[in-house]
Amino acid sequence: MAEAEAPERRGGGTEEIAFEEAGLRYEVDGEIATITLNRPGKRNAQTFATWSALAGIGENLPERVRVVVVKGEGPSFSAGIDLRMFTPEGVPGQGSFGSVARQDSDSLDRRIEQAQQGFLWLRRPEIVSIAAVQGHAIGAGFQLALACDLRIVADDVRFCMKEPALGLVPDLTGTKPLVELVGLAKAIDLCLTARVVEAQEAYRIGLAEQVVAPAELARAAHDKAAQLLSTNRDAAVATKRLLQGARLRTLEEQSAAERTEQAARLRALFAGS
Ligand code: CAA
Repeated sequence: MAEAEAPERRGGGTEEIAFEEAGLRYEVDGEIATITLNRPGKRNAQTFATWSALAGIGENLPERVRVVVVKGEGPSFSAGIDLRMFTPEGVPGQGSFGSVARQDSDSLDRRIEQAQQGFLWLRRPEIVSIAAVQGHAIGAGFQLALACDLRIVADDVRFCMKEPALGLVPDLTGTKPLVELVGLAKAIDLCLTARVVEAQEAYRIGLAEQVVAPAELARAAHDKAAQLLSTNRDAAVATKRLLQGARLRTLEEQSAAERTEQAARLRALFAGS
């Protein structure tokens, strides 16, 4: 995989880094990190460099960060993978799907796994990730929104899982959250028809927590971040851990997990009293 170009640092008080080749901007302001897909002229199309840069952000996220906002510059959140990947020439420095497909099985598996690393870290219990989504969120764009814990959408949002229409499967970690959010039948409907889901349906089926006017999207994401920061940090981390594990556990196991987490909380809160 091609690595993202060396990041270019900017700004003063807040830490801001531009990953030019990857089409990303990254900013940390106190406990909030903001990742902006920043190729609006190409509708924030994503490449392997984008995913590599996302993974790098995840690996180096400052410990103080509690909320990560993922947003897109311009009219669309993201039009998905850069369509140049489907051409013989591919994306300069990153190859094409043709060249990727000719790799041996282990290399191919590793390449997809590396791409997935850009998405997986957004679920860590230590953070809450919010996707602020306007306009098109297609393919990899839809999956990036799905990788986040919460989705706040503008009323012009258009989600589309385009991969099956292009002969591919959604492989950027989106299938599990999609099924968990909307159920198997609806996930089959959305993916196997590659149809567009607009804002009201997204809200109704659980894809979006909140629908706002496009001009209100940034404010809504900021307000949600502020609400999330208003609770106790360690309790928030422990609670997210509990909630994430709930589906996989029996009621008895979940009750036991609650006891374990609460015992740790009580000890921490009342240590020395
Ligand atoms: N890759 C590369 N360039 C893209 C792009 C993409 N996915 N989507 C848009 N662009 C470019 C266009 O080529 C155009 O560039 P120029 O101005 O240089 O011609 C520019 O962005 C603006 O595009 P449009 O004029 O088409 O903008 P629009 O607002 O009218 O339409 C759109 C927006 C509906 C998103 C449309 O651009 C579109 O359908 N894009 C392709 C979407 C797509 O099929 N994505 C692949 C999804 S599958 C996936 O993501 C697979 C995976 O993960 C493995």
